[in-house]
Amino acid sequence: MRLLGIDVGTGGSRALVIDEAGRVVASATAEHAPFASPHIGWAEQDARDWWRASAEAVREVLSSDDVKAEEIGCIGLTGQMHGAVLLDERAEVLRPAIIWCDVRTDPQCRALTEQVGAERLIELVLNPALAGFTLPKLLWVRETEPEVWARVRSVLLPKDYVRLRLTGERATDVADASGTLLLDVRRREWSREMLGHTGLDETLLPRVYESQEVAGRVSSAGAAETGLREGTPVVAGAGDQAAGAVGMGIVRPGAVSATIGTSGVVFAATDRPALDHLGRVHTFCHAVPGRWHVMGVTQAAGLSLRWFRDCFGAGSEDGRDPYEILLDEAANAPAGADGVLWAPYLMGERTPHLDPRARAALVGLTASHTRGHVVRAILEGVAFSLRDTLTIFAEMQVPVETIRLGGGGARGQLWRQIQADIYGQTVEMVEADEGAAYGAALLAGVGGGVWASVDDACAVTVRVRQRIEPSAAASLMSTRYQTFQSLYPALRRLD
Ligand code: XUL
Repeated sequence: MRLLGIDVGTGGSRALVIDEAGRVVASATAEHAPFASPHIGWAEQDARDWWRASAEAVREVLSSDDVKAEEIGCIGLTGQMHGAVLLDERAEVLRPAIIWCDVRTDPQCRALTEQVGAERLIELVLNPALAGFTLPKLLWVRETEPEVWARVRSVLLPKDYVRLRLTGERATDVADASGTLLLDVRRREWSREMLGHTGLDETLLPRVYESQEVAGRVSSAGAAETGLREGTPVVAGAGDQAAGAVGMGIVRPGAVSATIGTSGVVFAATDRPALDHLGRVHTFCHAVPGRWHVMGVTQAAGLSLRWFRDCFGAGSEDGRDPYEILLDEAANAPAGADGVLWAPYLMGERTPHLDPRARAALVGLTASHTRGHVVRAILEGVAFSLRDTLTIFAEMQVPVETIRLGGGGARGQLWRQIQADIYGQTVEMVEADEGAAYGAALLAGVGGGVWASVDDACAVTVRVRQRIEPSAAASLMSTRYQTFQSLYPALRRLD
């Protein structure tokens, strides 16, 4: 049988088909409209655009000569986490979805923490109230747009809206639900006490499944729009971080990944819910029954580079990709960017500062610096910020045996080497560098009976293709990291 993974990302939706050996048979991506940011710190997308793009990407993979809809035995969904899709009684979208990197809800987070109590909150949901999480978004809508809230009958996460359109079912999975602040992450079920504290009715929420469980089948409407076979089973899947980790074989304690997409995430699999008492890293359910994970999040990782390209990037008159031009320039700048440092807080920051109001900064410029120095500083600043999570893992005694790199940030040699140097550790690349859609397809394989467990799926399909050792620049990077760590406190004083 063939397995289909669908990843509802921020930039676009991706469909990926693999075979039972884990080989990629076909893939296609359809872009989303970029998120709207009508006010500082806001980030909104139209959920219907996710479905339009997902259906388009699926139709495109099915048009490949190598894939037939009847061969697809099971489907897995993944996607950007934390977003709030609000639906009325007819399952119509009520307002733009407020997505993961939106940080407007600081007041709601403070009020919630005061109401429930910081300690009790962590006991209940294993995480502090953070602006990017789903519950504070719901509270914002309830307070600010009561006329919209009065019509809300259902709240879904991004990939689960796509599931609704594909199968007609309201369902989610434990890993994605962990980022709502409404899941009892230890017990892997909705927290009645949190619902009680916030006066939310459980009927607003979808049913929660383990990631590999079948949670619906393609409906006739879903089949008509995608070309998939009606009745094809669809597993619950997982939020993009947990699914991406499965796709890289990050399923057992000791295995760690560093993924640079729009956001940047350092992720460790654990066999118990490991807690940072300061709440600087998230403690969520893993997409594997009986396992959890901890992860630290840099809000603007790939986004830092994209923002720079959009505002100051090279034109591409000679037909070259503007990113390639910038990265070539960066490769010509020395490690350490001759003293330029980038604090990547374009959308506030989660790990380690938990500060939605943090601002980005480029410091240390002189007239001798070039654009290449600045781009190099951006690549380094993002990696320093990811290293902050490794520093916290060390404090928490979370084991870090191997670090695998993923996401667009791992595609070029330069950012890979910078990561090896800044983490001060050998890093690995896996063969199928296909992101969360690959993990979702593996979860579909478990649900569809191809593999007995997620561990088995990873053992059969995930292979390391390259190891990158830290270079001579690693000791300079370790000194620069200390300077980087002093940047945020200095910026705070400018408030
Ligand atoms: C994870 C997170 C991001 C989004 C973006 O907590 O917010 O990784 O899932 O895709």
